[in-house]
Amino acid sequence: MNQFNAHNYALRDFFEFFLDDHGSRELKEMVDLDSIDGILRKCLSIEEMREAGSFFTGQRLSTAAVLGFTKAITLNSVVLDPTCGAGNLLIEVSRQLGVEQSLLSTLTAWGAVLRGYDLHKSFIEAAKLRIVLEALNRGAEKDCSLDSALQLLSGIKVKDAMLVGRVDLADVTHVIMNPPFSNWKSPKINFWKTGKVNAASVVFEHYVRNLPLMCQISAILPDVLRSGSRYEGWRGFISQNFCGDCELAGLFNAKTDVDVFLLRGALKSDCNDVSWFPRLGDYIQLSEQFDVCVGPLVAYRDPLIGLSHPYIHSKNAPLWKTVKQFDEYRQFPGRVIKPPFVVIRRTSRPDDKYRASGTIISGKMPVAVENHMIVIKPKRATLKECRKLLKIFKSSLTNDFLNDRIRCRHLTVGIVNQIPIIRAIPL
Ligand SMILES: C[S@@+](CC[C@H](N)C(=O)[O-])C[C@H]1O[C@@H](n2cnc3c(N)ncnc32)[C@H](O)[C@@H]1O
Repeated sequence: MNQFNAHNYALRDFFEFFLDDHGSRELKEMVDLDSIDGILRKCLSIEEMREAGSFFTGQRLSTAAVLGFTKAITLNSVVLDPTCGAGNLLIEVSRQLGVEQSLLSTLTAWGAVLRGYDLHKSFIEAAKLRIVLEALNRGAEKDCSLDSALQLLSGIKVKDAMLVGRVDLADVTHVIMNPPFSNWKSPKINFWKTGKVNAASVVFEHYVRNLPLMCQISAILPDVLRSGSRYEGWRGFISQNFCGDCELAGLFNAKTDVDVFLLRGALKSDCNDVSWFPRLGDYIQLSEQFDVCVGPLVAYRDPLIGLSHPYIHSKNAPLWKTVKQFDEYRQFPGRVIKPPFVVIRRTSRPDDKYRASGTIISGKMPVAVENHMIVIKPKRATLKECRKLLKIFKSSLTNDFLNDRIRCRHLTVGIVNQIPIIRAIPL
């Protein structure tokens, strides 16, 4: 992270030689929430960024996160970003606060409101320098040395966010965060999963456990926490202690292929009121009329022994067509599936035209299906049911449902089971 120091020297130099020229192009650039990502990428490789979980929030999401608070930020608030990086979210928070005539008095007021932690000294230094420059950018007059200005931001410091407890957080009124999304070992006590989990879930949960009741939280989190079956226990715990809502926010930025959502609300006990998914009203879900499973054949692993069967995989299943004659056969000792049924590919992306692109498999012989496909077999074993299903998969209702529930690439059996097939009660 020391590579970032070169940037901090440039910020320091700029302050020292600053000639009361607020609004200048260079000054704006130094507090620009989108440009800092490019600077970070020049200092660190993508692997280093991933390892540290250092991806700085751009202007669009920073604005959305600050607007997510339902209680106004005032000079009496204490606003914490527990993993503040180079201070983007704190800069955006400072934009809710007024500016005094002088830098000293502006930073005295801002310093009482803004708190931030990060593991890396160079990020903390950048955050403080950029907040000082932001005050100048907003029109405060430089009337003190850089050291005096930085001392006024003593609440922004090097600290491990996970070692902060109830006592330290007792006066915090608002928390804003975009925690790291890297893989962490799950904590040994009080946790819903073992093994590696997304760090964002661990940080968010730690703050839900330790912040005072009624504290506002606005967080940018990876979509897998909202839609992944692995995080069901996490969602359950958060729902019991936090009252709020989610907003889908698309890709984190143009260079980072991770879908995120905003979770915002306030800490309350026994609330059970987080709407993780858009409410659809009552509907009949696919599992009531179809059985769903992953294709049982693992091509690289399963031996070529046993009977030879028609063989279906993602490359020989033409989209939206019916396969009756088979070109490929393969020996397979495992479970084969009797037609008629539908297969869909497990991999799909939110920008695909159809998230669930299907093929009908018909004929009389049981078929070996490869495990990159999901098999959907009608309980009433007719081709008519399969055709009905393809129509449902082509509809915008299915696409919207899947995009809302599961932004990441892999469709799961659980989510396919929940696809609405008949809307019973319109909203
Ligand atoms: C995704 S970045 C977000 C930075 C900033 N909040 C923003 O939105 O631009 C996450 C930051 O968390 C920091 N971090 C990772 N683990 C941490 C920990 N245990 N305590 C404090 N900060 C941590 C990383 O150094 C990184 O700067």
